[in-house]
Amino acid sequence: MPTSKGQVSRPAFHFTPQRNWMNDPNGLVYHRGVWHLYFQYNPENADWGNMSWGHATSPDLQHWTEHPVALRYREGEQIFSGSIVASTVNGTEQLTAYYTSAYGDHRQAQSTATSHDGGFTWQLNPNNPVLDRGTSAFRDPKVIRYTNRNGDFQWILLAVEADDRQVLFYASSDLRSWEYLSTFGPIGDEGLVWECPDLFPLAVDGDPECIRWVLVLSTNPVGHDADADGSSMSYFVGQFDGVSFIAETQELTRVDHGRDFYAGVTFDSAPGGEVILLGWMSNWRYATAFPTAPWRGAMSIPRRLSLRVLDGTPRLMQEPPAFVSEHLAKAVPATVFGADPPFSLSLSGHSLIDLRWDPATSGVLRLRLQGDTDSKVEIIHSSTSQTLHITRSGPVLEALHPDFASRSTVELATGGAARLLLILDGPLLEVFVGNGESTVSNLVVPGRSAVTATLETERHTPVTVTSVDLAQSERITTPAALDHSD
Ligand code: FRU
Repeated sequence: MPTSKGQVSRPAFHFTPQRNWMNDPNGLVYHRGVWHLYFQYNPENADWGNMSWGHATSPDLQHWTEHPVALRYREGEQIFSGSIVASTVNGTEQLTAYYTSAYGDHRQAQSTATSHDGGFTWQLNPNNPVLDRGTSAFRDPKVIRYTNRNGDFQWILLAVEADDRQVLFYASSDLRSWEYLSTFGPIGDEGLVWECPDLFPLAVDGDPECIRWVLVLSTNPVGHDADADGSSMSYFVGQFDGVSFIAETQELTRVDHGRDFYAGVTFDSAPGGEVILLGWMSNWRYATAFPTAPWRGAMSIPRRLSLRVLDGTPRLMQEPPAFVSEHLAKAVPATVFGADPPFSLSLSGHSLIDLRWDPATSGVLRLRLQGDTDSKVEIIHSSTSQTLHITRSGPVLEALHPDFASRSTVELATGGAARLLLILDGPLLEVFVGNGESTVSNLVVPGRSAVTATLETERHTPVTVTSVDLAQSERITTPAALDHSD
């Protein structure tokens, strides 16, 4: 069995907890100039359990500071996933957290807590739970804002009945009493649970007159013949009228084509009305087997979402946050040739790599990433077959879990110049395809030293490569109170 220390380094510009287990992002909110990330956290060890909300903040979505646990489990009650909204009550700003109380008797119901100091300390509502159906898989409340054509405002809460593959909608004018509105689902494959729903409006092709609502969901296969691909995120595009969500098609479309992007939800109150999604970079299939210590679990890079019509259908587009393009803009692009011999680039392994080329003249482009382990990642871009394949393979991966080695396939848009943006940060590899029409996010095991990127094209044509190494100084800072040395 491979050991953690040798093969996985801590990400430098993605959030990881200083120690112990983390899964879903929770309570994402931008408040008083600060991005808050709460997260499913076990304060006691590096496996799932004792679920509580950990807390971190960032001024810029790149540098994160971890804070003490915000909402702690109690005997007989774990604090499962949920959301936060910022509001003003009697002239005073407050944050309200909605979370699932997962009780010892297996009941799951929605509870609230409020914070008056900008999200650092929380008071539980003595009347919890505030929404209880007496069922055992009612969870993951996400509270959003809705204003109708007449300008009437209400809060909408959506939560899943996970085993029934349903999203339930409720409305409130005061964030206290909730009225049931409607149920969406079940739709799609059986043998899955639905988790962590979110709903947000986006302007199609940037046209404010043409708004569509996007319902995102995380799905996790259950049962004996569970899908080896494990957990993933999907979305529906449709209409929401303040009561019910009507999907335009009955098909779930993948949010990310890799194996490791789950439980993603968006920030409340992001500046400029931006819709920013953050996901957990792992897969329930093998999350507990990933060899890191003393921490386990990492968040994705935050993604700015938009909707663009492609082949007649509105599709979810994802772009990395501003800091990524700012770093790339400061670097000098190199023009390289990848045919006879291939071109090699040495990277720190905490790197941004932007590739642009003309696939019509270059033919197939292959990129291999290899560090000092026996595993590798291969990316094969073929405009003839209009596919991008990303494969992670090697004995180290196979030893981690039988389903860890993987191959992801993305259908490419036709014509024009090609672009791939790779965000590699230790064990995290996120690939943004084209203008963000697809993303592929995977855990990888490149080792702890430099990573070599080898680029090969079928024909002798130029590829423009811009790469940036984000040094260890970009690391998460930790207040003294949390700084237990590794
Ligand atoms: C999704 C999930 C949620 C639940 C939480 C528990 O990954 O299963 O449905 O609230 O994790 O940690």
